[in-house]
Amino acid sequence: MPHADSAYVPSGLTKPEFWDHVHDQLAPLLEGQRNWVTNLANASSLIYSSLLAYAPHFGDGERAVNWCGFYVESSLFPAPRYFKRDLTQGRHNPPTELLLAPFCGKPACQVINVAPGKARGVCANAFIDAQTKLVPDVDAYPGHIACDGQTKSEVVCPLILQQEQTAVVGVLDLDCLAVGGFDADDAAGLQKIADLIVNACDW
Ligand code: SME
Repeated sequence: MPHADSAYVPSGLTKPEFWDHVHDQLAPLLEGQRNWVTNLANASSLIYSSLLAYAPHFGDGERAVNWCGFYVESSLFPAPRYFKRDLTQGRHNPPTELLLAPFCGKPACQVINVAPGKARGVCANAFIDAQTKLVPDVDAYPGHIACDGQTKSEVVCPLILQQEQTAVVGVLDLDCLAVGGFDADDAAGLQKIADLIVNACDW
């Protein structure tokens, strides 16, 4: 099957069925590949494309999803100015910032501060609390960081690595053009997908 066909969405799916479908399409895309940049690139594309193809809830129009992507803890990036993070004895301990990682949508803010006393925004809170954050109205969320003024609601899932040790390595973030764009079914489906992704990669 051509890779692009993974984003095909059958009609008539309920929300839970839709998220199970996306999960099951993603699993084979991650097989045989453990590079996190490569896997996050395909995951953001698959989730974003599938949502836009799921016409009843997120298709083109007023309720469309307008951003889907990842922020990853900065020391995990392969850039010389960042230390590699030992997940048990990290040099950034506690972590200080998340950096923009693979995504689909318009350009977004590159750095999110997660340092104690300085953290702000939905992504930072999901990362620090290791909890999914469902935000029905971004304008009512204290500290929300507006990357796109058109965004009205948001959901963010932590990427919780559970291998030899447990560590939060980043977040999966989705934005929607409508207030109340995401519900508890979306949060649950996305967290299951986030769990699949994080454990399919080497960090
Ligand atoms: N709104 C996020 C920032 C990331 S953008 O939405 C892509 C936040 O408050 O952390």
